[in-house]
Amino acid sequence: MPGMANALRATWRFSTSDEILFGCGTAERIGVEARHRHLSRALIVADPNMVKAGLVDAVRRSLDESQVESHVFEGSAPEPGTMAVNAAADAARAVKPDFIVGLGGGSNMDVAKVAAAVYTHGGSAGDYFGENRVPGPTVPVFAVPTTAGTGSEVTAVAVIEDESRHLKLAVASPFLRPRLAIVDPLLTLSCPAKVTAESGIDALVHAVEAYTVIGYDALDLPPDARPQFTGRQPITDALAEQAIRLIGQHLRVAVYQPKNIAAREGMHLAALLAGMAFSSAGLGAAHALQYPVGAETHTSHGLGTGLLLPYVVAYLLPAAPETFARIAGWLGEDVDGMSAFDAGELCVEAIQRLKRDIGLPMRLRDIGVREERIRSLAEQAATYQRLLRMSPRPLDVAGLEQILRSAW
Ligand SMILES: [Fe+2]
Repeated sequence: MPGMANALRATWRFSTSDEILFGCGTAERIGVEARHRHLSRALIVADPNMVKAGLVDAVRRSLDESQVESHVFEGSAPEPGTMAVNAAADAARAVKPDFIVGLGGGSNMDVAKVAAAVYTHGGSAGDYFGENRVPGPTVPVFAVPTTAGTGSEVTAVAVIEDESRHLKLAVASPFLRPRLAIVDPLLTLSCPAKVTAESGIDALVHAVEAYTVIGYDALDLPPDARPQFTGRQPITDALAEQAIRLIGQHLRVAVYQPKNIAAREGMHLAALLAGMAFSSAGLGAAHALQYPVGAETHTSHGLGTGLLLPYVVAYLLPAAPETFARIAGWLGEDVDGMSAFDAGELCVEAIQRLKRDIGLPMRLRDIGVREERIRSLAEQAATYQRLLRMSPRPLDVAGLEQILRSAW
């Protein structure tokens, strides 16, 4: 139909979890929330650290009080693979829950989301890699984050390792979005400084990438395509701006004063807003580059995306100086009277300073990347086209290599 493609590019869509419950003490309401939805049997996907920290017990107590039966799968892991997802789905088949709770960092929520798909639709985790491979709604998932970073409580994606290929792959489907996100800052009070820093900087990467991807009107795709990422638009811009401001204000305090409730609350809100922003707008090169770098160095996702971000910003700067100038201002830089390009360069400096202040490594050599591996890492990153096609400056292997060399 003539004009179809234009019609698509002139419109945008925004999606997030069905409901979000935010604030101190909301985790204690999980039983009541389940009852309201006529749910009566939960499988809680967690890991031994969640059990040790008493968080699994706290959730079970609340479910108990509302006469909701609960069972625990504690076999999730920090960088989960298909085996953990399949084991969680097996646990679900044995227990027959009518909803699944993902309790923990991004990894536990991701395992819960994909396990819900496998439990509902059959097969195994590997069948769902890629975009739009989940055929329909799953049993409801309640996502309860205990770190402030991933935003997985509101996103339509889960990142899982394919152990057979040693690759981090995404399962992306609108049916993966949790039914309810319970975002309780009190659950992050026991989060160690290192995890607070690494997950917090990842939230910054989400917000900055969401704010700097191409616009919804520039995405060149067939009219019937249903991509996960559809470019920046007014809602994602507003969310990303607020997230960046909150992180500039609260991340350092959250790292050095772990019991500071205002800082924990600011960071939990920031991570939520950043997750809402990027899951519709998109992500970019810092994420595409982190996947191979993380596999090579066995370092955490947030450590890698945070390390890479300023070098990615420096590369993108000529394509969108005003955009990065605004971000510098939101991070607290005084950009009054400066040219857009000079102010944009302050954005790079502000992120480097934040990294240094919270104890993150500055360069790839600091985490064991060998110089002779850079070309191969760039080639692997270039395969993540669902991310790179969102870049405001075109990125091929040579461009990715240039970023890695500047970060080395
Ligand atoms: Fe991330």
